Amino acid sequence: MRRKKPEDLRSHRWYGVDNLRAFGHRSRTKQMGFASEDYAGKPIIAIVNTWSEMNPCHAHFRLRADEVKRGVWQAGGFPVELPAISLGEPLMKPTTMLYRNLLAMETEELLRANPIDGAVLLGGCDKTVPAMIMGAASMNLPAIFVPAGPMLRGNWRGAVLGSGSDVWKYWAEKRAGNLDDEAWGEIEDGIARSYGTCMTMGTASTMASAVEALGMTLPGASSIPAADSNHSRMATAAGRRIVEMVWEDLKPTDIMTGAAFENAVTVAMALGGSTNSIIHLIAMAGRAGAKLDLDRFDALSRRTPVIANLRPSGKYLMEDFYYAGGLRAAMARIADLLHLGCVTANGQTLGVNIDGAEVYNDDVVLPRERPLSQEGGLAVLRGNLAPDGAVIKHTAADPKLLKHAGPAMVFRDYNDMAARIDDPNLPVTPESVLVLQNAGPLGGPGMPEWGMLPVPQKLLRQGVRDMVRISDARMSGTSYGTCVLHVAPESFIGGPLGLVQTGDIIELDTPARGLTLRVPDAELARRRAAWIPPKVIYPRGFGLLHARHVTQADKGCDFDFLHGGSVVPEPEIH
Ligand code: FES
Repeated sequence: MRRKKPEDLRSHRWYGVDNLRAFGHRSRTKQMGFASEDYAGKPIIAIVNTWSEMNPCHAHFRLRADEVKRGVWQAGGFPVELPAISLGEPLMKPTTMLYRNLLAMETEELLRANPIDGAVLLGGCDKTVPAMIMGAASMNLPAIFVPAGPMLRGNWRGAVLGSGSDVWKYWAEKRAGNLDDEAWGEIEDGIARSYGTCMTMGTASTMASAVEALGMTLPGASSIPAADSNHSRMATAAGRRIVEMVWEDLKPTDIMTGAAFENAVTVAMALGGSTNSIIHLIAMAGRAGAKLDLDRFDALSRRTPVIANLRPSGKYLMEDFYYAGGLRAAMARIADLLHLGCVTANGQTLGVNIDGAEVYNDDVVLPRERPLSQEGGLAVLRGNLAPDGAVIKHTAADPKLLKHAGPAMVFRDYNDMAARIDDPNLPVTPESVLVLQNAGPLGGPGMPEWGMLPVPQKLLRQGVRDMVRISDARMSGTSYGTCVLHVAPESFIGGPLGLVQTGDIIELDTPARGLTLRVPDAELARRRAAWIPPKVIYPRGFGLLHARHVTQADKGCDFDFLHGGSVVPEPEIH
């Protein structure tokens, strides 16, 4: 391998030459108190930091950025911290998904416009993970991801609480009249007790694990709880490693190959991971020029057993997973399903990284002969209701509903659903299929996590806890239930979901991967002819850019002009 020399560094163009511009760059760096010994001839490492006081999952990132810097200094690099928009899932509306591509663009352009040789990406809360990887892939400078890590377990009256999953569970009990305000208040106090990401196998844990399997983190990084001192040491080690990656010129496209994406998908499936991972991994693969589509997802899912006994599909939380050996041990259990020759950020192959990793608790990481499910957690459905596909997390659904036909109860949008769902006169039975329209990439906009429609209150009081629900929305990775999601094309642009009327019979056949609207073609054609396209929701700014360029769920919801594409020239330095 040819190692770079200082004059090969990208930053050399800014600092190392003898002209007026370089004088300005050096003198202005000195303005910040740095001497030429601090930076001259050294790899300049961007620490792209998504810290924000509107993002509790990243509350520790100021400290972690300092710990990364320590590693960069130790290894002979020059660290610089670059703040980027923080997509905090709990507080941003209508959904962070609307802004995933904005953070991806920001990451790419921060790296391009500045004298950067390599990047450490600090992210973790759901969309920050794919966004930063997408941007880094497009810029294609050496980069390593430092996941925020899961928060500690929640506690309430001796019970363990899991992010998201237990919110939905206890909210249903409250609506059913089984939980008083005092208990509800105690759950609010106990469910989020440290910094870090959701500690169920939600989207954040799924994506962090997938990115580790992809090879973009240090081995074992994704399982470490945020508040564990091992997390700090991992951050510092990532700082040391990125300096070497620059000298080695180990770039994202060297790591993020088609085979590496198959590893990421397989791992997400084996963990019973979030449905959101489908959209994100397809978008990430698109940036890296790797081929990945819904059918490949389904094929990989069918052959991959779910071996992580983690909520919402299973029983345990990320802290338990870490103590049981974490992702390295889980990957070692499915090593025969992985491409072990893929190179990873530490310069070793995946096979070397997981060699000898042991499982310490067989109830958390299950043996192959008794998995949670023989097949991976996600299935791709098709039919006249979803010509371009839909997905279901069947491991988190009531098995009795996975093959079901029933009359549709249609809500034309979220507000309609919220206004009527608990109406005692709502004409629903446990057999009804709840349909939510206009919640997709353009309809939401941003495809909010509305796909786990609440079970109507009158059915909750009858003891019903799951129903078939269908939408073009996403759902939180911590959610559960028989929820068909990501229906494409979406209703807002004229997809068949928008033509469904209350009373139509819908048939879900998960084993056969079918989703069918039992309405004659002639009647559907009549409804289509009468359909009036809605107006774009955000008529200016980033919302309008999103509306004009976002792709549908089966394509990953990236902007069409960011997917794959040509190499952008390096900026001129005048
Ligand atoms: Fe940030 Fe779940 S809200 S990871």
